[in-house]
Amino acid sequence: MSDKNYTLTGESGSADLPSYSGTLGPDVADVRKLYAQQNIFTFDPGFASTASCRSEITFIDGDEGVLLYRGYPVEQLAKNSSFIEVCYLLLYGELPTKAELDKFDNNIRTHTMINETMLRLFNGFHHDAHPMAMVSGVVGSMSAFYHETMDIHNARHREIFSHRIIAKLPTIAAAAYKHSLGQPFVYPRNDLDYSSNLLQMFFSVPAEEYEIDSVAAEAIDLLLILHADHEQNCSTSTVRLAGSSGTNPYSAIAAGIAALWGPAHGGANEAVLRMLEQIGSAKNIDEYVAKAKDKDDPFRLMGFGHRVYKNFDPRATIIRDMCHKVLAKLGRDDDPLFELALELEQVALKDEYFVEKKLYPNVDFYSGIIYRALGFQPSMFTVMFAIARTVGWVSHWQEMITDPEHRIGRPRQLYVGPAARDYIDVAKR
Ligand code: ACO
Repeated sequence: MSDKNYTLTGESGSADLPSYSGTLGPDVADVRKLYAQQNIFTFDPGFASTASCRSEITFIDGDEGVLLYRGYPVEQLAKNSSFIEVCYLLLYGELPTKAELDKFDNNIRTHTMINETMLRLFNGFHHDAHPMAMVSGVVGSMSAFYHETMDIHNARHREIFSHRIIAKLPTIAAAAYKHSLGQPFVYPRNDLDYSSNLLQMFFSVPAEEYEIDSVAAEAIDLLLILHADHEQNCSTSTVRLAGSSGTNPYSAIAAGIAALWGPAHGGANEAVLRMLEQIGSAKNIDEYVAKAKDKDDPFRLMGFGHRVYKNFDPRATIIRDMCHKVLAKLGRDDDPLFELALELEQVALKDEYFVEKKLYPNVDFYSGIIYRALGFQPSMFTVMFAIARTVGWVSHWQEMITDPEHRIGRPRQLYVGPAARDYIDVAKR
């Protein structure tokens, strides 16, 4: 529905652009008819000013540091909810009743196993293959396992897809982890909740009893909640774009995992840890802060800055508190990397460059320190992010497929290459 019109005046006349108001956030001007009426496209590299769809799932106010899943503040969900309940909320739009939650939880628990043939795919990877490459490859292979039974226009098929992929991602991730260690694969246990099952698949070995640490399970559940969705970010937009062609959704999720891997996105948690190791000691902080500010140096402070948050990232504050709790429980609250991270944060927050550019610690500044304390290798950090974000990707894919306005994603360009010219025979060049 159009609330008001914006008039755009150019050399070839003016165009009236209808605009729409959402529940929250700025209005959007509808430029869909601009080309037909005025023969002009909009130019927006990185889509920083473009609303690509209507969405009811997640809202962010970057200036105020607000993050809502289906209207519920992430702080309230982090304090009171569980990852499985948050999955239900994101997928179905409302908090479940007790009966709905039990049924959903049971559905996820009974879809955790993967086909043995899929397990054998891991043997094709070298032992030091990056787990993100293995996980995106194996998730892509799910489209081969479930192609004939996946009709994207069938609501029940879509629902089974959502349960399958949320349930199987930790199993696939743990298989990648065990493969890289050369340890035997550990099967899922459906008597355990999502995060406890994840821990036992990663860290138990057949040779001895494994005791699940409740603080570790609580920390994993919290990290999964905080990473579950973040509206139209790079990987989610990738899933939407890939899915918009009608491709098998397992392939679209694999594309999202690939996009997440980059250090400017989900790969930042691994990059933060490697950066802290590189800085090494508090006495080197000034040198690295200077490098981050130097335009001629490609070094950036990883875990700082965000496309949308320009005040603070509400997830970072919650994760920092959890970091204290986990390290204290494990008797590692004097972890030198954690102390270095706290100090680096303080120096950067007071530095004019970071203050002026509104660069604050983001969700991944502290998450890697928790994962490391729990025993995960740095290369697994982004895989943990992928497990959490799967529900967000699935929710957005579902919303897109059922949106009557959905069209294949196909941006335009400003062409700056050579104009048409004639082919020159090789002897004459
Ligand atoms: N260190 C130093 N300078 C920075 C940093 C940083 N971490 N981030 C941004 N800047 C500077 C840029 O150089 C730029 O300076 P300029 O205006 O003088 O050219 C300015 O701040 C704006 O930065 P952009 O890159 O234009 O901002 P954009 O919104 O495109 O990028 C991003 C956001 C990718 C998150 C960026 O801040 C960054 O690279 N951060 C480090 C990587 C990181 O932590 N990524 C995780 C993000 S959270 C997530 O995806 C889960």
